[in-house]
Amino acid sequence: MTAITLVLGDITRQRADALVNAANSSLLGGGGVDGAIHRRGGPAILQECRRLRASRYGRGLPTGQAVATTAGNLDARWVIHTVGPVYSAEEDRSPLLASCYRESLRVAGELGARTVAFPAISTGVYRWPMDDAARIALETVRSTPTTAEEIRFVLFDTPAYEAFTRQLG
Ligand code: APR
Repeated sequence: MTAITLVLGDITRQRADALVNAANSSLLGGGGVDGAIHRRGGPAILQECRRLRASRYGRGLPTGQAVATTAGNLDARWVIHTVGPVYSAEEDRSPLLASCYRESLRVAGELGARTVAFPAISTGVYRWPMDDAARIALETVRSTPTTAEEIRFVLFDTPAYEAFTRQLG
């Protein structure tokens, strides 16, 4: 039985087997969660991301996919980088957002991660409306078989926390 938990806080201060990063396709860092993870995790994470770009992901990590690296100085064993879709009012990209959660859980399972912490993917720079993103996130993790014992959503502010609480029902 997998517990789904909500936490108000900074994902880079969480202890978990795997912390999920809201990355971009370059895997070379950015702002928001991405910036915080690289800042607190240290250069080892970026070094591994660069190696991934030089090998498996020469053209970058495609939207909706996930890949793991070391967690560097973070209180975790791995960082799972996933690339969320940019919100679009014209095109329904929700399958890609769902894929971020599904693929991150698949990678976590391959690693044997028992606790997985997620941010609210795509709800910052990528502008996805929070309530809809929370609905997609929770629907997806609830319908994805996983060996994880805990799936923790780490929400950075109260509106996000309240949105996830509403969707948790
Ligand atoms: N811990 C937890 N949540 C955080 C943190 C943090 N330290 N920092 C930001 N957030 C929240 C934001 O408030 C937002 O709700 O994470 C959510 C996702 O926001 P972003 O980090 O902007 O990620 P996203 O919207 O997926 O955009 C990804 O932004 O940072 C760049 O390199 C990244 O290009 C990529 C894009």
